[in-house]
Amino acid sequence: MRLDKLLSECGLATRSEASRAARAGKIQVNGIPALKPDWKVDPEKDEIVYCGERVLYQKFLYLMLNKPDGYVSATEDGKDPTVTELFPEEYRRQGIFPCGRLDKHTLGLMLLTNDGVLSHRLLAPKSHVAKTYAFSVKFPLSNADISALEAGVDIGGYVTKPCKVSLSNPKAGQITIVEGKYHQIKLMMQAVHNQITSLERISFGPLTLDPSLTRGTWRPLSQEEIEALRREAHTVEKNP
Ligand code: URA
Repeated sequence: MRLDKLLSECGLATRSEASRAARAGKIQVNGIPALKPDWKVDPEKDEIVYCGERVLYQKFLYLMLNKPDGYVSATEDGKDPTVTELFPEEYRRQGIFPCGRLDKHTLGLMLLTNDGVLSHRLLAPKSHVAKTYAFSVKFPLSNADISALEAGVDIGGYVTKPCKVSLSNPKAGQITIVEGKYHQIKLMMQAVHNQITSLERISFGPLTLDPSLTRGTWRPLSQEEIEALRREAHTVEKNP
């Protein structure tokens, strides 16, 4: 396989970073500088050193799920079905877990991976990864409610960060938040004396829910989507 693909699959570098590192002589294959990112390597046999560190090949999985109703965001649960049960046993053996949580009755975009470092970076409170949800509520939302939600509301001792709300009708719309407190949107709507009646995540950072995925189905992320997530996580690292 190509050297840059291997480093990217291991989560060590994006393809362009791998390319720069190769040209700068920062990658050795069996002790020889690999100056081109398209060098063919055998991850089982070749000794690859990237920026002074021996590379241990582990292929990470990145999967987009359209979460159905009634599943909990966990790998095991004594009572309810879990989102990982929607995947083949082989993936579960490779240690996939949900990157963040959606409530049992929340639908939509969920990322599952076994890349703990990337997941941790994306979920870190300082990361401010934007998440957009389509929602509906029991009572019409007033302009004052929207202003309050957008400015930040108290959800049990914590004041939410500014967010964006747009309505498609007085009882439905989209909300974009840059944090992920437990039951955040439900609690935000309660703070303006309303009640969520449906909630679906439609985007997570650079990912948008693939409309061809029906509820309960999934697909691997494309290489472009993985690189976009890595860039997002990278930005987080650079701007603590
Ligand atoms: N906010 C909620 O209240 N529930 C979710 O599942 C996600 C965000």
